Amino acid sequence: MNKTFFIETYGCQMNFSDSEIVHSVLISAGYTPIEHYKEADIILMNTCSIRDHAEQRVLNRLQEFSFLKKKKPHLKIGILGCMAERLKEELMQLQQSVDLVVGPDAYRDLPNLLNTVETGEKAVNVLLSEEETYAEIEPVRVGDNQVSAFIAIMRGCENFCAYCVVPYTRGKERSRDFETIVNEAQKLFEQGYREITLLGQNVNSYRYNEVNFAQLLARVAQVNPLLRIRFATSHPKDLSDELLQTMSQYPNICKAIHLPIQSGSDAVLKKMKRKYDTAWYLDRISAIRRYLPDCSISTDLIAGFCGETEDDHQNTLNIMETVRFSSAFMFKYSERPNTFAAKNYLDDVPEDVKSRRLTEIINKQQELSLKSNQADVGQTFEVLVEGVSKKSDRRYFGRNSQNKVVVFTRTNEKIGDYVHVKITDCSAITLKGEVV
Ligand code: 5AD
Ligand code: SF4
Repeated sequence: MNKTFFIETYGCQMNFSDSEIVHSVLISAGYTPIEHYKEADIILMNTCSIRDHAEQRVLNRLQEFSFLKKKKPHLKIGILGCMAERLKEELMQLQQSVDLVVGPDAYRDLPNLLNTVETGEKAVNVLLSEEETYAEIEPVRVGDNQVSAFIAIMRGCENFCAYCVVPYTRGKERSRDFETIVNEAQKLFEQGYREITLLGQNVNSYRYNEVNFAQLLARVAQVNPLLRIRFATSHPKDLSDELLQTMSQYPNICKAIHLPIQSGSDAVLKKMKRKYDTAWYLDRISAIRRYLPDCSISTDLIAGFCGETEDDHQNTLNIMETVRFSSAFMFKYSERPNTFAAKNYLDDVPEDVKSRRLTEIINKQQELSLKSNQADVGQTFEVLVEGVSKKSDRRYFGRNSQNKVVVFTRTNEKIGDYVHVKITDCSAITLKGEVV
């Protein structure tokens, strides 16, 4: 026995967190993780379906693994995560080299499934669960970040935004036992971690028995004042004043909110089934500014959704200016099979128009990010030191509470320390400064 495995992860932070669960499950079953895929007995790809491009990347990479399998017939290849859930058995019919297909709620079954695969058969488990939260599985932290870790606090999504595949690939929304989250945070702190990010598709609708998200956040913040807390992602419809109040009470809850707006047009938001309009969104922005004057706000935007007019697009550019987002993830609309939009609307914005609108959105954000960073020049921030700058080993990088990357000349601090850095210069993506 003593087989080795290698996992390659695509997509969102939740997927990276799931890969840590998979590591834990496989190590407990006697498998050994290995750094180089060429040496592994089992290659697992934890996949993403959010846009067609994400799936194409996985399929291209799979070609490489399939090629390796021709030379190394005992190699087993497994597809995990959202593509496994979306395509199910079909994936093995389309891709001969795939031995194993496992959806996001079936990772406890992996050792079993691998036993089947060892006999030369193929194995599938894509059952979605209404309860699975992997609550007591202790994730095995992979990668070399010793400072910052993820904790998944809920799984699934039931918002059914018209464009989105996630409710189909990740199933019903469920929250993880509150105690297990606090214990995991405590343990991470004791191991030396100084920042945790609470993860969920829609964290602010967290509820476990009587505990809501604001209360969970407060409890995690109480673990230690030196432990920074972040969270993602929030849905505008559930961003409560109670949450903002809690954030204002704890200096170690980071002052950064990721609040996807998707579009600045009420007509488009309605078609997207986002359950809020721009007036609601702007009211939530005012509430953030009121409770947390130094909070940064970032967002997600989709260009060229079904039926989007030039006016709708202009409204998106306008609202970006109004809110002054500090950063954004920006995408072209990509139709996903079987979603509400795919079944009910025409994907009718031509590709070149989508591209042009996306470019305009990116350019606008570039301007706004630069302005936001320029406003920080001259200010001093507390920065958690995360590592050595890629460009020069005389510099460290870290983040301030607002989640902006700060690069500064090293003095005698260590990774994991907090330092105060005065900002002297910036680009649209980073702040630069000196320790004070
Ligand atoms: N096409 C383009 N972007 C999408 N997103 C989700 N579904 C799609 C899609 N079909 C974007 C949204 C979401 C982010 C995670 O991905 O902006 O907030
Ligand atoms: Fe991709 Fe969404 Fe699945 Fe995350 S939840 S892996 S972003 S499809």
